[in-house]
Amino acid sequence: TLAFFSTKYLLNKKILITAGPTEEPIDPVRVITNKSSGKMGYAIAEAAFNAGASVYMVSGPTQLATPYGVTTEFVNTAREMYQAVMKQVYDSDIFISVAAVADWYVSNYSDQKQKKQHQDGLKLEFAPNPDILAEVAALDNGPWCVGFAAETENLSDYAQAKRKRKNVPLLVGNLAQNVMNADETTMILFDEHGEEPLPTTSKTLAAQYLIQAIAKRLPSIK
Ligand code: CTP
Ligand code: CA
Repeated sequence: TLAFFSTKYLLNKKILITAGPTEEPIDPVRVITNKSSGKMGYAIAEAAFNAGASVYMVSGPTQLATPYGVTTEFVNTAREMYQAVMKQVYDSDIFISVAAVADWYVSNYSDQKQKKQHQDGLKLEFAPNPDILAEVAALDNGPWCVGFAAETENLSDYAQAKRKRKNVPLLVGNLAQNVMNADETTMILFDEHGEEPLPTTSKTLAAQYLIQAIAKRLPSIK
């Protein structure tokens, strides 16, 4: 909206955002990924830039054009995303963790292509990836953190619990089956005071609402 563009809600703030899915390789030609399109993270990066922020985005693989004015670094795996975030994190005022980060990587990765004559089917083994948001939220003098939670059930309970577990002041919840790869979203904001639903709308407009919600909650002294 016009008011959004004329009010520089995040003037001179440095924003670090993760966006999109991650890809965890099985072998040189196969990956495990998820259904995140990156649309929400890219829309937030664009809204933050339009709100006067300088924006650094660490993105998994997407089909999207990089938003104007946003410095974008591409990564594939969750571990690469973690490294890229940690490089940038002490130069950031706000961290917005929108990426759908794989919870595990394939620990029995094969550096040659797996052949199909595995008799009993192929067995994959998994090891946990770093929880990027939780690690950033635990830093001394780290940025103010915003998390996301895409749940398929019990949204209110799961999202509020997740916010507390990761120790972040603001967490955005939504129903995964409605928003993954969609153009619209219904965000519910969870903070220490409870929950506040935002209207169902385009990801572009929802991103502007979220920037306003963040600006309103920022501590005045960092
Ligand atoms: N996240 C992250 N690094 C991970 C996993 C998640 O930074 N390895 C971030 C996501 O970007 C999101 C938030 O943590 O902002 C919540 O992610 P989600 O997958 O919903 O939560 P998990 O803690 O992984 O729990 P689960 O998948 O079991 O629901
Ligand atoms: Ca997860």
